[in-house]
Amino acid sequence: MLRIFVVIMKKLIILLLLAGAVIPAAAATGGPESLLPAPAQVIYGNGTTPYKTPEVIVGSRTFSKATTSLPSFAQEEAYRLTISNKGIRIEANTEAGAFYAQKSLDQMRRSGDTLACCTVFDYPRFAYRGVMLDISRHFRDKAFIFKQIDAMSEVRLNRLHLHLTDDAGWRIEIKAFPRLTNYAAWRQGKTWKQWRSTGRRYADEHDSDAYGGYLTQDDAREIVAYAAARHITVIPEIEMPGHSAEVLAAYPELRCMTTDKSGSRHSSDLCPGSEDTFKFLEKVLLEIMDIFPSKYIHIGGDEASKRNWPDCKLCQERMKQEGLNSPEELQSYLIARIERFLNSHGRSLLGWDEILEGGLAPNATVMSWRGTEGGIKAATMGHNVVMTPGNWCYLDKYQDAQFKEPEAIGGYLPLEKVYEYDPCDGIPTEAQGHVLGVQGNLWHEYIPTPDHTEYMLWPRALAIAEIGWTQPENKDWPAFHGRALRQADYLTAAGYHPFNLREEYGERKASLAPVPHMAVGKPVQYNLPWHQNYPAAGEATFTDGQMGSWSYGDGRWQGFLSDVDVTIDLGSVQSIHYVGATFMQQPGPEIFLPKNVEIFVSKDGKTFDKVGEVWNEIPIADRSVFYTLFGTSIKADGRYVRYHAVRSNAWLFVDEIVVN
Ligand code: ACM
Ligand code: ZN
Repeated sequence: MLRIFVVIMKKLIILLLLAGAVIPAAAATGGPESLLPAPAQVIYGNGTTPYKTPEVIVGSRTFSKATTSLPSFAQEEAYRLTISNKGIRIEANTEAGAFYAQKSLDQMRRSGDTLACCTVFDYPRFAYRGVMLDISRHFRDKAFIFKQIDAMSEVRLNRLHLHLTDDAGWRIEIKAFPRLTNYAAWRQGKTWKQWRSTGRRYADEHDSDAYGGYLTQDDAREIVAYAAARHITVIPEIEMPGHSAEVLAAYPELRCMTTDKSGSRHSSDLCPGSEDTFKFLEKVLLEIMDIFPSKYIHIGGDEASKRNWPDCKLCQERMKQEGLNSPEELQSYLIARIERFLNSHGRSLLGWDEILEGGLAPNATVMSWRGTEGGIKAATMGHNVVMTPGNWCYLDKYQDAQFKEPEAIGGYLPLEKVYEYDPCDGIPTEAQGHVLGVQGNLWHEYIPTPDHTEYMLWPRALAIAEIGWTQPENKDWPAFHGRALRQADYLTAAGYHPFNLREEYGERKASLAPVPHMAVGKPVQYNLPWHQNYPAAGEATFTDGQMGSWSYGDGRWQGFLSDVDVTIDLGSVQSIHYVGATFMQQPGPEIFLPKNVEIFVSKDGKTFDKVGEVWNEIPIADRSVFYTLFGTSIKADGRYVRYHAVRSNAWLFVDEIVVN
């Protein structure tokens, strides 16, 4: 009933706006259409009213009754905000609901001189609406984290996942293991890139060139309290068994001991065969649980190389004793044992989706990052999941045209694409109750400064907030875009450094419509194969008339770890005036322009004449992002066109070979 009324009112307002009526009044009135995230239900009243301090009622029988049909997590965060010329009233079941109502009222107040009389009845779609900050690759201090908590609380984000440990630095004081913070928290190399390219060396805290830092336990407790006061739960992540090079640097005895004389090969993995590893992890986790009261403790679990495990005496003994048949099962043994430890202390285990491999620990919750498959599988098995798939939720990707952006990890994730994501996409209806929610992940390999963190986080985290809170039928991209502009302006005025949405360039124009040319639909023979991970449209890729987007992973760019060498068959002898193809360069994922390309033409497919050559004129040392055309005018008659691009380094990516 309410919803029908809301729809009718929306239509009425649009009609009035179209008729040119009430525009001056609307511009000056702070109404519920300014709310981000968009609310569940709105009933418009008559007229407007000035702001007054609201009457706040928490825990009344009437409001409790009004929310009984909602899931319990939604009851806890629900609120009703009634604005009329008699006054302003907030009703909620909990302090969290009342807090959100006040935030909504503040947003409306900021968007106009007076408030529209209305009733907002609001509750979240998901219980878990998160942001992850990686403070290992580049450390961020307590004051900075407070600042992001403030911005999160404006839009009802309620989980802050701190990636506290990784190869590039350990960031939380553990009293039992002082070398984690007087050594593993410091490195040579201010940026992650410098550190990686100069031998990944750690440093003593007091070395003059040491870069790094860590949260003391007091800092972390203050962060927990600051967040809790804003109804945000802080979830700590301690990586295991992979991504632990900094731990191994400080405590080398936790490394695998391989049986060959060379010692262990380079690896960031803890040894799951050694009891010392479990003693270490349990002591660390005891201190972590003492600091962080969250139900969930995130144990990482991603990307362990498992490289040394087959040759490690202790790992092999463990596998024999426990009847484990693969490195995956050995990892799973570690995760399940850590889960028992956490459960015995009243906590629950959360881990990246690799924890599904080798058998999922019985009570574990899965954070699905490599795609949605892990989340789908775990939810179908009856496990809870948090959806953070890379294609929509990895906020370390470029948010705009790469040529105008600071270096990022690669890929293209503009605000609109984040917004398009639905955490229940692909999850069978009967398993959707296991989807706890959604999280935006901000990895920091390419984010050296705090201002840059804010630039990558905002406004895209606003889209995460709306995906997590707003019912799908109330999502509306054009309206959201307007609200995001307003919220980003607010953040800018408050001293944040968000990406400027007003200067968004948008998608690569060439990719928006098919490009007609002479070779479209013609067969292509591959003299060298494409790389299996980046097949794009296979043999049709270069002659399908489709240019790629900014993103190498979009299914239009074909990837090669070799030269590109193909022959196109035009079907009959033609006059050819031009041959060219665009290559991309993205140094983050090691994609580079070719050294040069050579173009050959043949009438019979046997004898080829070289008719053109193009050299890369961009200096090899220039590690910017490029989309560069390697094409040339020619004058030749032929049926076959051979295009040969000579690789300079790592990957080549190309989307279409245009022949005219
Ligand atoms: C991850 O991105 N390795 C979880
Ligand atoms: Zn081992």
